[in-house]
Amino acid sequence: MNGAKEFRLGILGSGKGSNFVAIADAIGAGRLPARVALVLSDVEDAGILREARARGLPARFIPPGRFRTKLDEEAERAYVAALQEAGVDCVALAGFMRILKGEFLRAFEGRIVNIHPSLLPAFPGLEAWRQALEHGVKITGCTVHFVDAGVDSGPIIAQCAVPVYDDDTPETLHARIQVAEHELYPQCLAALARGEISLRGRTVLWRRTATACCANAARS
Ligand code: GRF
Repeated sequence: MNGAKEFRLGILGSGKGSNFVAIADAIGAGRLPARVALVLSDVEDAGILREARARGLPARFIPPGRFRTKLDEEAERAYVAALQEAGVDCVALAGFMRILKGEFLRAFEGRIVNIHPSLLPAFPGLEAWRQALEHGVKITGCTVHFVDAGVDSGPIIAQCAVPVYDDDTPETLHARIQVAEHELYPQCLAALARGEISLRGRTVLWRRTATACCANAARS
């Protein structure tokens, strides 16, 4: 966040909302200088909406329209309008299960971020923890990245490695990755809010004083 201006987050999710909870807790604890301006979901009874409402935060279900993997044009307009009305500076995807397209990307260009449960570019797409297990990798993790027109392909902000154990199931591995997600995502959002992150081509640059556990582990 620069000066006294509030950094307003719009958060989109389709699922239980544990990343949203980590973000809200980080704000509450003073670790993330931001405000949750709006939570949106394409799933009417999503846990993320319940979690947001339980905290007294504005939360809305907006129907996604007629497609399964993306928003239709009318829905896209409704999402963009709601986020603009809420005056969001940054859109944080937290388990939002639809690909964002044209108008949405243009409306918030360079201001949309996502958390993905693998070390990208390995295992983009669905159930990345299951892909990692099936591939037999020994280390996986999570990635916070800017969103572009591809699937999990935008510039990488930070990553955190997580070990894979021989007796892991998809559930135990995803749970271990989520512990890392809950650390990493609020730290990346805090760096964005403080204006500590810039982009050179595909490379995300962190201001030297910035701290994200995993991103900066190799710097000290
Ligand atoms: C997370 O694992 C995230 O990486 C992926 O979707 C999951 C959302 O979980 N994009 P939650 O709803 O935040 O608990």
